Amino acid sequence: YHVEMDDSDSEKGAYPFYMLKEIDEQPAVMRRLLSEYVENEETVKIDDHILNAMKAADRLYIVAAGTSYHAGLVGKELFESLANVPTEVHVASEFGYHMPLLSEKPFFIFLSQSGETADSRQVLVKVNEMMYPSLTITNSANSTLSREATYTLLLHAGPEIAVASTKAYTAQIAVEALLAKALGTVTGQVKAIDYDVYHELTAVANAMQAMVDEKESINDLAKEFLSETRNAFYIGRGIDYDVSIEAALKLKEVSYVQTEGFASGELKHGTIALIEKGTPVVAIITDAPTASHTRGNVQEVLARGANTITISMESLANEGDQIVLPDVSDLLTPLVSIVPAQLLAYYTSLNRGYDVDKPRNLAKSVTVE
Ligand code: G6P
Repeated sequence: YHVEMDDSDSEKGAYPFYMLKEIDEQPAVMRRLLSEYVENEETVKIDDHILNAMKAADRLYIVAAGTSYHAGLVGKELFESLANVPTEVHVASEFGYHMPLLSEKPFFIFLSQSGETADSRQVLVKVNEMMYPSLTITNSANSTLSREATYTLLLHAGPEIAVASTKAYTAQIAVEALLAKALGTVTGQVKAIDYDVYHELTAVANAMQAMVDEKESINDLAKEFLSETRNAFYIGRGIDYDVSIEAALKLKEVSYVQTEGFASGELKHGTIALIEKGTPVVAIITDAPTASHTRGNVQEVLARGANTITISMESLANEGDQIVLPDVSDLLTPLVSIVPAQLLAYYTSLNRGYDVDKPRNLAKSVTVE
């Protein structure tokens, strides 16, 4: 198996839409990141200057917009778990004007596919004025955010043309995982030292491939549950909650189905009032410690007439599961669980007759605040 990909490759070739091409490219992007960032299948190569600056920090602040913000939410889990460093994630348009109290030695991470998002840039301008160190993680080497930050790491995802971001989201999470491994290793965190990121991400690439190979059956689920509905919900806990928000954004932006991502446990505190006969509820269940709770929430919405789809790992799967994910490292499940959600969004848009690559009212890169 091999997906041809290089930086000049902005043609869709045999694909009807860029979004599908970009979803399909994700396993190849994972492998490309491993070859760019990992030596001898073991050592993560990140510039010492970056690691030293991060090591000197007492807190990481991730600032981003849209899908990149959602990749930041997963990044928090990775930096806290592997590198043991407190991490906050902020929406760029909020952060610049309503800045929280900062720690003594903050380090800023800007996540931006394009590197041109004005909301993120206005924060970077302020961060530079305050003379704090910063790192931009971007797909675009010569972008504004890359030039103006202290450091840059590249996503190596190849051009992303579809307005709805797919491969940049998963590339951002993979780069965060590599960076968290490298940082935790230099700061002597046992969990990071023991974390075999090369083999874990290789397993992810294979699992992603297994998911993209399921596209026909995922289209069947999209037809059955999402083609007529006005609204929908994604639910999950922990890292699955982070993915639920991104999954909901994917569906709403390309299919115009009003979709909310919810922490499963919060549903009963209000939103469950919206569940009626036929309301689609997609549950992402990879977080083992809370899996039984979320399965309980699925039963609650089923009892109120919801149509449910569960996305869960083999080890947790039961008969009711429609989408079964291959088992991967618990910190990296977002890279795999998002793929069926991307495909559900893609096919729902297509089944409703929309131009999935160019959703109404949206721009690929938003250069105004
Ligand atoms: C726009 C796009 C989104 C994207 C966001 C942030 O709103 O439509 O897909 O997630 O900008 O873009 P960035 O290039 O900073 O990641």
